[in-house]
Amino acid sequence: MNPPVALDPSPILRTAFAFWNSKVLLTAVDFGVFTVLGGGKRMSGAQLGVALALHPRAIADFFDVLVAMQFLDREGDGPEALYFNTPETALYLDEASPRYLGGIMKMLNARLFKYWHDLPEALRTGKPQNESKYGQGGIFEELYSDPVMLEQFLNAMAGLSRLNYEAFAEKFDFAKYKTLCDVGGATGLLCIEAAKRHAHLQCVTFDLPPVEPVAAKHIAAAGLSDRVKTAPGSFFSDPLPTADVITMGLILHDWNLEQKKLLIRKAFDALPQGGAFVVIEALIDDARRENVLGLLMSLNMLIEVGDAFDYTGADFRKWCLEAGFASVEVLPLGGAFSAAVAHK
Ligand SMILES: C[S@@+](CC[C@H](N)C(=O)[O-])C[C@H]1O[C@@H](n2cnc3c(N)ncnc32)[C@H](O)[C@@H]1O
Repeated sequence: MNPPVALDPSPILRTAFAFWNSKVLLTAVDFGVFTVLGGGKRMSGAQLGVALALHPRAIADFFDVLVAMQFLDREGDGPEALYFNTPETALYLDEASPRYLGGIMKMLNARLFKYWHDLPEALRTGKPQNESKYGQGGIFEELYSDPVMLEQFLNAMAGLSRLNYEAFAEKFDFAKYKTLCDVGGATGLLCIEAAKRHAHLQCVTFDLPPVEPVAAKHIAAAGLSDRVKTAPGSFFSDPLPTADVITMGLILHDWNLEQKKLLIRKAFDALPQGGAFVVIEALIDDARRENVLGLLMSLNMLIEVGDAFDYTGADFRKWCLEAGFASVEVLPLGGAFSAAVAHK
């Protein structure tokens, strides 16, 4: 008999233990470790332990594993050592940073970590495993019935989408368009990033009425209230505002096939000839073999909604051509995310 081939088990083991790493990072964000260390501060384990109200047993293990995972840096060893942010955690995980991404991590920690525990049930039943499992409403009715959860969800969306919207605002050729409507625009982030970079653009962020005051606050803080407006409404019961470019970031993946096609049709109707409809998503590669985050995102839609799902560029092209669009192209935004652009 041939000796067994030395196959590498480490990817299996890494993934099996990955929830430990994940929970450490999410807890650090939730506790505000990177915010407490903001402004270039250096603190000993004991000082950090006091600031974050940790039990002494936890201090060395918690901060040293963050060092080993490269989310903190440390000068020296032992009890006198000083911990500080890495350049990346200072930029993305200090709440005072304008490029803070921690909102999505707070939501992963507060909601999805426990809902993913019920993945087996979702896989067997096809039913959502979030708040709506116990309440009456859909995901948005449940989240938006509580102002704290509303703000947490909108901040999470900003954390997830910020880098994609920055990349989209840089890469998409807005020169030939005058108006933009971002449908399901949440805090108004996509409009804000596009308006910042393209001074000729007039923008509208369209979302459910409870979201409007939050968007208005963010737009005012960015000093863009003259060129970024809010429009309250429902994309199912109201027509979409007309615009040269209609964007939907992480919208179609929230809905089932019939609802997706309805939203594509409504975008088509709201665009002029020559207009563009853009979706920004963790678009799955056409062969469904590579984009791990896109495929996990689709499983997350099973957990959150049940019959909602993520899709490939080829799926989007097919639906858009059926709706009457002339052509579709995919614009990679870096990482797992892409913009898919349908031209009318
Ligand atoms: C997954 S979030 C995406 C938010 C944002 N586009 C982003 O990428 O960060 C979905 C958004 O759709 C909005 N939404 C849900 N149902 C809606 C409806 N019927 N009409 C308008 N907006 C809706 C939600 O309020 C939320 O802001």
